[in-house]
Amino acid sequence: MLYLDHAATSPVRPEVLNAMQPYLTGVFGNPSSHHTAGEAAASALEDARARVARVLEMRTGDVIFTAGGTEANNLAVKGIVLAALDRGRTHLITTPIEHESILESAEYLQRFHGVEVTRVPVDSAGRVSADALADALRENTALVSLGHANNEIGTVQDAATLAAVTKAAGVPLHLDAVQSAGWLELAGLGADAVSIAGHKLGAPKGIGALAVRGRVPLEPLLHGGGQERGRRSGTENVAGAVGLTVALELAEAERDAVAARVEELTARFISGVLTAVPQAALTGDAVRRLPGTASFTFAGTSGEAVLLELERRGVISSSGSACAAGSGEPRTCCWPAASRRRSPRRRCVSRSVARRWSNKRPNNSLRSSLLQSMLSVLVHNSSRFISGTLQFRAVAALPPALAPFLEEL
Ligand SMILES: Cc1ncc(COP(=O)(O)O)c(C=O)c1O
Repeated sequence: MLYLDHAATSPVRPEVLNAMQPYLTGVFGNPSSHHTAGEAAASALEDARARVARVLEMRTGDVIFTAGGTEANNLAVKGIVLAALDRGRTHLITTPIEHESILESAEYLQRFHGVEVTRVPVDSAGRVSADALADALRENTALVSLGHANNEIGTVQDAATLAAVTKAAGVPLHLDAVQSAGWLELAGLGADAVSIAGHKLGAPKGIGALAVRGRVPLEPLLHGGGQERGRRSGTENVAGAVGLTVALELAEAERDAVAARVEELTARFISGVLTAVPQAALTGDAVRRLPGTASFTFAGTSGEAVLLELERRGVISSSGSACAAGSGEPRTCCWPAASRRRSPRRRCVSRSVARRWSNKRPNNSLRSSLLQSMLSVLVHNSSRFISGTLQFRAVAALPPALAPFLEEL
């Protein structure tokens, strides 16, 4: 069986599991407890915090452990904007292609707090231009929140240039680095807040972190015991924090070597797909993309048919990003009318944005997260995981040209 959905999640690395083990059993204290068991847990937590901060080039106290990337993004977007409202900063900037945790947080602020939201359009490769960002900035902008790398097409934003624009305007920049962590340098990007999630790095699901520079006021979203210096109440997930830290450090240590190797494999993969499948078109930025991500559309193909066919051949894949899966429509390729309907099952999709990739409107399209596992096969000796997606453009059946290519897998 080929697991093709590492952009959604990856298994826990053995080194991570080993590092976590003591904090699930022997060192089980509550970090808030003033006894030796609690102090041992608190010291592990603070050590993890310092190590995550080092990778992100932040201060130890900037790091807030969360229950994953969604919570980190919610805390960044809502927490920073809510804290800025009483200074008259009532404007938020993001883009239409962000993860739902950013898009929905923006909608929440708009609906319940009257925040004005500007969704800066991206180009057909998913890039935000510095000029477009500069034009969108206002005197009352509280925050700019952007994905460092897109979770479906892998396009990487020119974060340093965009950060220079926000810095000049005195507006904090939040980067959702959930997909880029471990693949790209996160230090020195000039961001004021950065979100990461453990399960994309080989740590367990349900642990993440938001690092927010101390100078940026933050309104907590979870109230209670005042843990995490009052910014995120709730008994801390010590083992998870240790796991996230080890996974992040391992990914950082391996980053250059793995990225170079995977980039080469990705190039081979892309050219293999484009050669074998005449209907295939590469989406996303041809150059500024995550090393292990390739995203395609396959004209004239039914997504359902492709997924079924792949599964029949032992290839497990999904349609759309994980939060949109089950809707039958991908996030990056779905356009609104139908997808705007709100129902609990379609919550994620409902916020998908009409205008994204506006000059490429795949009709009734479907995306499948495939590449990562295909590449995993190619890099079977690598302990790193590769994330990637394939997008399938709608209609009837698997294009005959795709079949031999899949056979080769
Ligand atoms: C770019 C991006 N941001 C945020 C998230 C949410 O992270 P989590 O699954 O840890 O809640 C994801 C998850 O896929 C993601 O890809």
